[in-house]
Amino acid sequence: MEQVSKWKQLWLSYEKKAENGNASYFQNVWIQGFSMEEPVVKSALKELTDGALGMLGAKVQTAGEGENAAKSSGIVLQRLEENNEAGVKAEGYVLKEEDGRLTVGATDEKGLLYGVFHLLRLISMEKSLAGVCKTCNPDNPLRMFNHWDNMDGSIERGYSGRSFFFADDDVIINERTRDYARLMASIGINGTVINNVNVKQAASWLITDRFFEKVAQMAEIFAEYGIKFFLSLNYASTIEIGGLDSADPLDERVIAWWKEKMKECFTKIPNLGGFLVKADSEGRPGPFTYGRTQADGANMLADAALPYGGIIIWRCFVYNCQQDWRDYKTDRARAGYDNFIKMDGDYHDNVILQIKNGPMDFQIREPISPLLGGLKKTNQMLEVQVAQEYTGHQIDVCYLIPMFKEVLDFHTYCKPGADTVADVISGRTMGNKNTGMAAVINTGNDANWTGNYLAAANLYGFGRLAFQTSLSAEEILDEWIPMSISTDAEVIKTVKGILLPSRATYEKYTSPLGIGWMVTPHVHYGCSVDGYEYDRWGTYHRADHLGIGVDRTDAGTGYVRQYYEPNASAYNSLESCPEELLLFFHHVPYTHVLKTGKTLIQHIYDSHFEGYEEAEGYAKAWEGLEGKVDEEVFANVKERFDRQLRNARDWRDQVNTYFYRKSGIPDEKGRTIY
Ligand code: GCU
Repeated sequence: MEQVSKWKQLWLSYEKKAENGNASYFQNVWIQGFSMEEPVVKSALKELTDGALGMLGAKVQTAGEGENAAKSSGIVLQRLEENNEAGVKAEGYVLKEEDGRLTVGATDEKGLLYGVFHLLRLISMEKSLAGVCKTCNPDNPLRMFNHWDNMDGSIERGYSGRSFFFADDDVIINERTRDYARLMASIGINGTVINNVNVKQAASWLITDRFFEKVAQMAEIFAEYGIKFFLSLNYASTIEIGGLDSADPLDERVIAWWKEKMKECFTKIPNLGGFLVKADSEGRPGPFTYGRTQADGANMLADAALPYGGIIIWRCFVYNCQQDWRDYKTDRARAGYDNFIKMDGDYHDNVILQIKNGPMDFQIREPISPLLGGLKKTNQMLEVQVAQEYTGHQIDVCYLIPMFKEVLDFHTYCKPGADTVADVISGRTMGNKNTGMAAVINTGNDANWTGNYLAAANLYGFGRLAFQTSLSAEEILDEWIPMSISTDAEVIKTVKGILLPSRATYEKYTSPLGIGWMVTPHVHYGCSVDGYEYDRWGTYHRADHLGIGVDRTDAGTGYVRQYYEPNASAYNSLESCPEELLLFFHHVPYTHVLKTGKTLIQHIYDSHFEGYEEAEGYAKAWEGLEGKVDEEVFANVKERFDRQLRNARDWRDQVNTYFYRKSGIPDEKGRTIY
């Protein structure tokens, strides 16, 4: 088999690995209770064959269905009863090795495929398969990627080239379609939305005969890897493509049109899972235009999709984006909760509300959205952003899994014993099934998929975390680095030393203590302290010569009261507010003394000098890997570090100068502030 480069296949490059006694299992592969003709089983077998050959040089000699499996040594891919001893549930699997016989057991095909990928992962990490015994069930029913790809081939907030789904207002199907599906399945992703939530122009026509054939073909390839296919919908389709003059969700003509349209969509795209909708936000149409609620809009679409088992994922990113700076009561952070909480319980069962992790917009530090767990009777899905819109554009290294862990582990206090965000979105809190995690994803047609090769750790990590929320950020790197960069212990240590603290570093040299923004408007890369201060998006820092921060306490916008106790009181008080979020909740004088004993202004100076130094340290550590890692990977990351250092220096100097000039308070250590 031709060796495939890491550069193109990332963690699935199946390069030669230490054998560790693993090769012998592959001589015989038996299938019990599954059909070899079933597409997902076929994919699993192909991966097993390619992986064994590439990584171990082992040829699968026999592959067959049948009873022999029970006795022989080798690998047995076995269908389990629904109630099985190993505790394997839907889409889960068990791996068990005994006396030279390795069983991959699952109750369904997807579980089998995930089990096979787990086995290959162990080989890729150079672990011995002997004595393996592990049951894994997915924590989240839905584990999705959201692509913000436009049909002209551009990607909204894309930093790794053009779209590989679309070009020139058409759908692309090529080699990468399958490569993509394999990569996704290997980390447990089971749903994907291929087009941008801002559905305009040609994309509105994705649900018509103009594109059905190609879209169905792509969806079919995904089906072979157990991935449901989703599209973003234009809420005003009835007007834009349907020839009606309304999109009122209670209008009989609108309802009838959608019923027909859903029938057509689900018939023509057999692997369709449903739709994602951004309504009434940032200029997108929605039910508010007709004086209707978000629930009216979502339920109307969901009812039309119900006969086909379809789901409607409705985004909660609804806010007033035309604010006046003199208005100290209107608070963008409040909007999601204010717009959705009243209708808790009104959303139909096949509606899922998709909620961004924070109340603003994917900043490097935000509190957790109070809607998560705030809603008690509604299906919820967490939306995070793996695309580094505000976190360095895949130029700066920023391993986001530590941040996602904080989100998942957050106690909302919505229900005793089952109140973390992970509980809510996995269905443990409410006992519901239409729940999960979605990521705005960071891929493009760059040869290495994610621009900065190290950004693939976020892609990989999101999938693994969505499957198993208890995995730590470090455990994920313990998989990803040996699979993607090297199994050499020194290399692993160095790369971990860069990635693990990189989010903290990015936070240090950008906006301080939860205030967010300060990015170049529209682009969202690079520093512009006042860039959004004088705009209408409601993204203020409110800095003056005395202090900085937004008062969201009882005395301010009252946002704190959207949380349950004790969170509400903790955030409300300056003393108990977690300091990393201080400026999100409080307007604080520069002379305020933090728990470290430093004043706020000194903290700003210190963290910015530190952040830059840390980035310098990472760049240097990477230099030390020359010759120890793949050349292309080395050069790519090195080039990114050069740019990161320029960016970090710029942030450091601009932020420090800005606050020095505002406050008039010099740095205690007398360092250069321009
Ligand atoms: C952010 C982002 C937009 C995106 C929007 C969304 O505002 O900058 O590009 O469309 O989020 O989540 O819908």
